[in-house]
Amino acid sequence: MCGIVGMIANENVCEVLLKGLERLEYRGYDSAGIYLANQEEGGSLVKAQGPIKALAHKITPAMHGTVGIGHTRWATHGVPSEANAHPHRSEHGKVVLVHNGVIENYKELKEMYLKDTTLTGETDTEIVVNVIEQLMANEGLDAKSAFKKALTQIQGSYAFALIDPTQPDRFYAAKNKSPLLIGCGPDFHLVGSDALAMIHQTNQLIELQDGEIVTLTTDSVIIETLDGQKIQRTPYEAQVDNDSIDKGTYPFYMLKEIEEQPLVIRRLQQKYFDQTGNVRIDSDLIQKIAASDRLYIVACGTSYHAGLAAKATLEAWIKTPVEVHVASEFGYHMPLLTPKAFFIFLSQSGETADSRQVLVKTNQLHLPSLTITNVPGSTLAREADAALFLEAGPEIAVASTKAYTAQISLLTILAYAVAQQRGGNYGQPSDLSHEFSLIEEKMTQMIEDKSAIHQAVKHYLPTTRNAFFIGRGVDYAVALEAALKLKEISYIQAEGFAAGELKHGTIALIETGTPVIGLITDEATHTHTRGNLEEVKSRGAETMIFAKASLAQADDLFVLPDVPDYLASLVTIIPLQLLAYYASDERGYDVDKPRNLAKSVTVE
Ligand code: G6P
Repeated sequence: MCGIVGMIANENVCEVLLKGLERLEYRGYDSAGIYLANQEEGGSLVKAQGPIKALAHKITPAMHGTVGIGHTRWATHGVPSEANAHPHRSEHGKVVLVHNGVIENYKELKEMYLKDTTLTGETDTEIVVNVIEQLMANEGLDAKSAFKKALTQIQGSYAFALIDPTQPDRFYAAKNKSPLLIGCGPDFHLVGSDALAMIHQTNQLIELQDGEIVTLTTDSVIIETLDGQKIQRTPYEAQVDNDSIDKGTYPFYMLKEIEEQPLVIRRLQQKYFDQTGNVRIDSDLIQKIAASDRLYIVACGTSYHAGLAAKATLEAWIKTPVEVHVASEFGYHMPLLTPKAFFIFLSQSGETADSRQVLVKTNQLHLPSLTITNVPGSTLAREADAALFLEAGPEIAVASTKAYTAQISLLTILAYAVAQQRGGNYGQPSDLSHEFSLIEEKMTQMIEDKSAIHQAVKHYLPTTRNAFFIGRGVDYAVALEAALKLKEISYIQAEGFAAGELKHGTIALIETGTPVIGLITDEATHTHTRGNLEEVKSRGAETMIFAKASLAQADDLFVLPDVPDYLASLVTIIPLQLLAYYASDERGYDVDKPRNLAKSVTVE
């Protein structure tokens, strides 16, 4: 994980690098650093433990340089500390490097090249920067040749940016598996882990591909393969609106993103339905899905939960079994696949390494695949056979909200498209586009009721250590996501349970005052779930019930609107996202940047 940015221009690049790092902070925020090459011997290197604002405090007006690199870190090798923060300078200062990824053979490289080198930190990156220096010293190579040679020996994932302080008219970058884009301006060039890191400077981007190295100067971009073949690639225009990444008057991005959900539904509706209510998705893709005998959804975290929430609708309307798998398990313990397996990779970022390793394997097996992601041009989008986009706009808060509801919505649209193409009645509505318009209103209604949730948080969750969410069917899937939201940002130990399963062991954890949040939207099982809530209540639990209007009872905490079952998760999750948000805010945490986490996890 981590985010990197680099720039060369005719003026001081420090501010731009800092801004880029702020935009990349979602990728990690335990330490950060900037290096600027300038007239001072060796240039200026500043690092700080903690988020970017800690780094910003250490930057003085005197720090300047027309070429520089920056990094924001999410620790993998070595604790979060200033010593382990990037950029890393080689022992004798010949080169300075930032890195996103994991070097698998760092021990072998150390053994081979660095017997006499004094290392100051514990990172794999420090090994690489010193290997490059050794290659320069031992083999008389210039920085670029030494970098290229080192790249041929490195195993693992990386996006690197490298500066030779004696050549401040250029810098270098390379990638393998980790994302890296090039940003182009009239008299400057950048690299960044994503478009957000550079969009304040340019929307003209070039993709760098695995196994390529780029040399950037103010007026040129030279891309070549490691064996020296030059590559011509023209820039494309990034579709990121600079304003959409602004927090505006919201205290946290998470609240902004929760409130954007009705708008995201509208965007999906506009993109994926035509005027007559027919779905606009490539018919070849729909045919492939219709022809498959099993859908395998592979995802992590919130995206995995979105897959679970959409499973029943997909099975009902496509009439094909659907398996939803955690990516980190699936790749290494692949179940027996059916002859016509079709893979759907769900990923907000499109960069998650756990999901990607499965895609690499399914591609090797020539299995058909679709990526559903929020980020066009992301690795999973490029490497799958097809990609559909969530239209959710940048999601900055680490806790995912609008991407979750967009994923469920898009899977529902996909299921509908297959049913529409088959022409049968599988229980799908006659006009899903119209149903989406209605759901947009109901979501807005949920958001408008947010003060009720805020009050509930103050009343039920002020000091609790743990909490349980229970439900059946799709309510169970939503319970898993609601528990994840609460635990990741408020640090309340929260678990989602199938309502009927809680009594088979976990009920032992219920004590006087333990909050148990019951979700009730399922006609078939609501009486059972109410029974399970009674069981915990009689053991001292404080129950909070979220029930849909037609199933609600007098003392339920929150009444959800009546919506078709296949859209229930889209409204049920909203008050629960708000519950997590207020629980975190009430406890005084940084809602957008929970501890230990990062938004895009590009390591396995
Ligand atoms: C990280 C994030 C989660 C996210 C998961 C999967 O762990 O903290 O919020 O759900 O990655 O990310 P993806 O981008 O693949 O949806």
